Amino acid sequence: MELVFATNNLNKLEEIRHLLGDKIKIVSLEDINCTEEIPETGFTLEENALQKSEYVNKKFNINCFADDTGLEIDALNGEPGVYSARYGGESKDANLNMEKVLEKMKRTSNRKARFRTVISLIIDGKESQFEGVVEGRISETKSGSKGFGYDPIFIPDGYGTSFAELDINEKNKISHRALAIKKLAAFLMDIK
Ligand code: IMP
Repeated sequence: MELVFATNNLNKLEEIRHLLGDKIKIVSLEDINCTEEIPETGFTLEENALQKSEYVNKKFNINCFADDTGLEIDALNGEPGVYSARYGGESKDANLNMEKVLEKMKRTSNRKARFRTVISLIIDGKESQFEGVVEGRISETKSGSKGFGYDPIFIPDGYGTSFAELDINEKNKISHRALAIKKLAAFLMDIK
């Protein structure tokens, strides 16, 4: 089976190909010559993931899936959430995003947060969603240089270090995206 993953993020493509093995061929947007920016105007991760998968499915008449991820911080009423990528400004700068979070949480003792990924899969016109969640807390300062995004300020439950201090393979074992992808993979193996 061939499936389009509606992303051009090479790390994500590599991660899912690794998890799915060679039973399912995953192709990227570039592979199908989809070069335009796909609209992402939803108010929830679920809406955004569906919007992206539907766009590719309808335009290219192809089975596909799309993901959307957000960092949800309890003390900030779930922010940055669906706005995680551009929380600190349109430049989507990870440092500006993290600085905004740390500044807003300066005097906050409740540091509970989670990364949540939603995957929307469309096969033969039917949509299914898969969710992956990793609970943790926001640190007081940044630490570590691996990973990307908010990794330097997120400490997963059960760990004493940030995501950015973990080896990529270690992070991929427990990450929100990995959990969602594992559910997707189990579903795909079942319907094959
Ligand atoms: P996307 O939906 O995967 O593009 O994620 C949206 C935003 O969430 C990204 O731009 C990052 O700021 C943040 N994000 C997503 N996944 C991760 C992660 O694994 N670590 C840190 N930040 C992440």
